[in-house]
Amino acid sequence: MSGVSFVAGCGLGGLNTWGCGGSCRWLASPKNASEATMFIKKAADEGTGLYILGGGSNILVQDGFIDAGVISSRAMDALEVHAEKGGARIEASAGVPVKKLLALSLDKGLTGMEFLTGIPGTLGGALFGNAGAAGCSFAPIVEWVDTVSFDGVSRRWRSEDLVWKYRTCPWNGERLMITRASLRPGSGSREEITGNIRRFSALKKGQPIGAKTAGCVFKNPAGDSAGRLLDLCGCKKLRVGAAKVSESHANFIENSGGASAADIYALAEMCRKRVYEEHGIVLEYEIKFFGAF
Ligand code: EPU
Repeated sequence: MSGVSFVAGCGLGGLNTWGCGGSCRWLASPKNASEATMFIKKAADEGTGLYILGGGSNILVQDGFIDAGVISSRAMDALEVHAEKGGARIEASAGVPVKKLLALSLDKGLTGMEFLTGIPGTLGGALFGNAGAAGCSFAPIVEWVDTVSFDGVSRRWRSEDLVWKYRTCPWNGERLMITRASLRPGSGSREEITGNIRRFSALKKGQPIGAKTAGCVFKNPAGDSAGRLLDLCGCKKLRVGAAKVSESHANFIENSGGASAADIYALAEMCRKRVYEEHGIVLEYEIKFFGAF
């Protein structure tokens, strides 16, 4: 385990895009699956909680102290591309930023990953939350995904073993860490790929750029848009402390400077309550929580 970064009592505020939240018992940054497994077992032995951190772009971290270990996948950044007839096979570790995969689409003429345009975070996080845009996600191009469960068991899942549903964990929330995946994008012309990237980019036009957010806070309810419903309820005017609903897209909450996780959570719940009271719809969180809320 030489050279593995391990920090006891680590602040998590700098490791998530909302820039808030407290500290955890320890933070480990393994470079590969076997190092990760050692930390997973350490957490199991200690009997405390365990959270897996990717790019920190879709999480709300509790204020104060979280009595849990956190394993960051960021140092697991191995990436191999094997050209194949009709496309490529990409083997990537969980911490590879999805931006790198998008860049590969253009560099190597690969199609199937253009939906990553404007999506932050890592491959592991994107697979765990089944990230996507306009009905597109990794589902059609995943060959297999390797995981280690929180009781230390490694397993390779073929795409067909997984349940791919809109913004839903394909492991149904099972407690595991994604370590590596194999993807098979197809080949595409430069015009096709740039055209697709432009189309996905246009879909993001109304989203706040440059603000501290965690992307969309709520999933879209079937057949509707959470942003539209939140907007209709006047949520764009709401704030709690330095947490405010984005004026450009009501499904984003911005940390306008010094917001606590409690502020953000209180604001999200306020918005959720309004949608329930005015439309009878219970919005489901898209963001994931670290700690107790
Ligand atoms: N709308 C409003 N007011 C708002 C926001 C949206 O009236 O404040 C309306 C829009 O005008 C549009 C409709 O609601 O008619 C849908 O809005 P939008 O096109 O922005 O799409 P969305 O459903 O809100 C989804 C994803 C985004 C993804 C975009 C583009 C979810 C929860 N959100 O947003 O994903 O970027 O489509 O593909 O699925 C994310 O998951 O973090 C995320 C940002």
